[in-house]
Amino acid sequence: MTMNHLPHSMGLLLGACAMALPLAGLCAPPAPSAQIERGRYLVKIGGCNDCHTPGYAASGGKLAERDWLTGDALGYSGPWGTSYASNLRQQVAGLTEPQWLARVRQGPMRPPMPGLSLQAMAPQDLKAIYRYIRWLGPRGEPAPPPLPPGVAPRGPVVVFPAP
Ligand code: HEC
Repeated sequence: MTMNHLPHSMGLLLGACAMALPLAGLCAPPAPSAQIERGRYLVKIGGCNDCHTPGYAASGGKLAERDWLTGDALGYSGPWGTSYASNLRQQVAGLTEPQWLARVRQGPMRPPMPGLSLQAMAPQDLKAIYRYIRWLGPRGEPAPPPLPPGVAPRGPVVVFPAP
């Protein structure tokens, strides 16, 4: 059906929606693409929220999606020093897709990040994850920067035994 065949009022409404895109809420947000849905699925089954989303596991997975992957101030201390699960919403917002893929491939990532699992993903799966996080948009504060071995962390940490 072309615009000419739509009832006049509907045509006006569509026009208004096109112009009012920045005024979120007036018109329904665009439905996520199949690629974005795939990214959401991979993030769910990949356990990314368990570390990168504060309170996700404690909520039984019911935490609102808008708060996913915003990074955590809980530290993980071991022979590598102390690591913090990054704010992926900020990271992805600041990188193009090729830059993000290069970052993932570059490795290594400090434990307990399952960096090797991420690197083993098919390129189209990594791209779907990137697109999904990009679709979520930037949110939250950066996680604390990693600390080298021997530097005492200030906040709460999970301590791993030395091998
Ligand atoms: C067991 C906890 C854990 C899980 C599960 C986890 N991560 Fe991480 N992730 C971390 C930690 C900790 C870091 C910081 C690593 C470092 O400092 O080198 C990190 C870092 C990253 C980075 C690098 C960020 C940067 O700033 O360079 C990416 C990308 C990433 N994770 C993506 C994911 C994705 C996607 C998933 C799910 C498939 C996932 N992570 C699952 C703990 C986790």
